[in-house]
Amino acid sequence: MEFSIKSGSPEKQRSACIVVGVFEPRKLTLAGELIDNASKGYLSDIIRRGDMEGKSGRTLLLHNVPGVLGDRVMLVGLGREKDFRELEYRAAIHTAVTTLNETGAFDGALYLTEVAVRKRDANWRVRQAAMVAQDAVYRFDAMKSKKDEVRRPLRKLTLAVERRNELAGAERAMSEGSAIASGLALAKDLGNLPGNVCTPTYLAERAVELARETGMSCKVLDRKDCEELKMGSFLSVANGSRQPPKFIVLEYNGAGKGTGAKPIVLIGKGITFDTGGISLKPGEGMDEMKFDMCGAASVLGTMKAVAALKPNLNIVALIPTTENMPGGAATKPGDIVTTMSGQTVEILNTDAEGRLILNDALTYAERYHPACVVDIATLTGACVIALGHVASGLYSNTDSLARELAHAGDEAHDRAWHMPLWDEYQEQLKSNFADMANIGGRPAGSVTAACFLSRFAKKFQWAHLDIAGTAWKSGAAKGATGRPVPLLVHFLLHRAAG
Ligand code: BES
Ligand code: MN
Ligand code: ZN
Repeated sequence: MEFSIKSGSPEKQRSACIVVGVFEPRKLTLAGELIDNASKGYLSDIIRRGDMEGKSGRTLLLHNVPGVLGDRVMLVGLGREKDFRELEYRAAIHTAVTTLNETGAFDGALYLTEVAVRKRDANWRVRQAAMVAQDAVYRFDAMKSKKDEVRRPLRKLTLAVERRNELAGAERAMSEGSAIASGLALAKDLGNLPGNVCTPTYLAERAVELARETGMSCKVLDRKDCEELKMGSFLSVANGSRQPPKFIVLEYNGAGKGTGAKPIVLIGKGITFDTGGISLKPGEGMDEMKFDMCGAASVLGTMKAVAALKPNLNIVALIPTTENMPGGAATKPGDIVTTMSGQTVEILNTDAEGRLILNDALTYAERYHPACVVDIATLTGACVIALGHVASGLYSNTDSLARELAHAGDEAHDRAWHMPLWDEYQEQLKSNFADMANIGGRPAGSVTAACFLSRFAKKFQWAHLDIAGTAWKSGAAKGATGRPVPLLVHFLLHRAAG
């Protein structure tokens, strides 16, 4: 979808559809009033008759509104004005765009971006609108033999700002929102692909392709390379799989040569299917373990957005990717592996494999002397129990980094909640036979997983996002969400702004 920014009267827009909001009960927004005046009370008439009360989720499409240059006017219910906040704003944009996409309007002019949202400015509203709009029209039909195409899909959306002096900022916000949306779409596509298509080799190919398209550099380490690096932990997860593991290294250099800027390293968990291995998962819902590479997908999506926005930063993406399968050669409970760091791990449960592939990536990150390292992983079912599907779990060995990420998540409306990483929890990882065990028992399962990772992140500022509850949706709307691409891009843009 293409976006543009405009300031100016809604009644003078030559557009297939002008979208304006109505608050409950029966109160037009400013743009609505302007159209009402131009049409000599046409809208207030309709509202008075009770055809649009302003309830959220409701829309009313009007044709040939007098005094208006656009073909149609769409009224969108916004709910009560005093309750109109971020969530309601996003829902209104979503409703408007979904409806536009179904009406056969080729383009639209959205005046909802002028409606005040508490604590947020016009830039925020525009950035969010671009993200939500693209997300609303997202479809995944790559695997369907017959695509159910929208008859006349929405191609162009004009986002309105009230004042001319908001135009420049809004243009920038629009590009940011649009870049984030394209990153979200890539992350969702990769997440939604089935495990028999989206293999470690496939992920590596897509990373190479992304690098080629955007001028980033990419190298893919294969099993032999990883053996030479002594990544015994990562490789132990691949033992049961017929698919060869890959370790993807994707680099964006935007800070300029010779500046010596330390890179930010992003690490994404890339388990393309998690059966649990020998500690086999129960069958029900196991198909959803194709989403166990959503951390990797979000990192690639973020890199795609980065390539479009060109922030003044160096960024390295590391993606260890493999399947976790049972098999004759698979790692068994009780097996002990030596990680690239030299520390040994007793694998008491082969289903706690995410931390086994991430620890070697954390050690690999040391060679960059990074400014900070953030790993993103669908790591624990326990995190879903703790935070549900609303917030990602956020852990860090540096409070200021945690605050930066939490703030970025708030701003992006892609939230993360700071969880504890206190030493007391480390005791649960004791092993009788190795330096540590790979599981810490049932209590605080998400915390002990983070504690495990922290042992490999001693040499730099590090944060961990557990996205097990936020990376995808189950049920009728089953599918990848693309989270936390918005959080990560906001974080990086803040870092670039210094
Ligand atoms: N990929 C799973 C985590 C997961 C489970 C994410 C369900 C979303 C929904 C991870 O590899 C896993 O299996 N973790 C185990 C760890 C346990 C064995 C300590 C879990 O959470 O059950
Ligand atoms: Mn697992
Ligand atoms: Zn997993």
